Amino acid sequence: MRKKIVAGNWKMNLKPSEGEMLVKDVLKEKHELAYNHNVIFCVPFTHLSDISRILGEEDRKNIYLGAQNCSDKESGAYTGEISTTMLNDLGVRFVITGHSERREIYGETNELVKNKVDAIIKAKMIPIFCCGEPLDIRNRNEQNIFVEKQIEDSLYHLNNTAISNLVIAYEPIWAIGTGKTATPDQAEEMHAFIRNLIDKKWGSEVAENMTILYGGSVKEENAVELFNKENIDGGLIGGASLDADSFLGIIKAMS
Ligand code: PGA
Repeated sequence: MRKKIVAGNWKMNLKPSEGEMLVKDVLKEKHELAYNHNVIFCVPFTHLSDISRILGEEDRKNIYLGAQNCSDKESGAYTGEISTTMLNDLGVRFVITGHSERREIYGETNELVKNKVDAIIKAKMIPIFCCGEPLDIRNRNEQNIFVEKQIEDSLYHLNNTAISNLVIAYEPIWAIGTGKTATPDQAEEMHAFIRNLIDKKWGSEVAENMTILYGGSVKEENAVELFNKENIDGGLIGGASLDADSFLGIIKAMS
């Protein structure tokens, strides 16, 4: 059965002590999750160890630790980089890769994202692969070709087993942190397109089971309508994951 996921992407926000408090507040209020519903905290590297300890204190069913980035290299002289084996050792299960902020601000290419996807899979973690078009592409109505190329360049080399252990997040760049959400119909249209691509490349079983998240100004107020769409299996949440109540509201929208 297809997994549903609400993943918080804190980006470069919250001090470690604030992050700890946020996670504790969410855990305190959270109601029982359905067996196929999952919550992920994608926190800065500096917070991983503490949050890992908090999540590990009890049996936190369906609640996972995620990272926001990783190196494509295994180990060695790469000052400032963090490897996938380091992340795995800290209890990280999911790693975001291909986020538009990494692509746009730090120049990450489809080729580098491909290498990072491979590194994450090799370390037995699950990539949350982000794709999505900028506004000028959307205005020219070329979003499908754009997203197809991102997926083709970074994922088409994967075999059925590897692709089955991956989560896709569609995040139209014009909707990230702008307060401008894609309408549920716009998002659904792209999600259906992506699922169809997966079907053509890896077959209907893989496509049917693929979790495809929507990201870009998801909040409590629009989450239910988005998550109710047939091909939207949850969200990657930036700003609204920084407050326990609003994140809890979005988690609730999964059910
Ligand atoms: P946002 O960010 O919810 O603040 O728009 C989403 C993301 O970048 O993952």
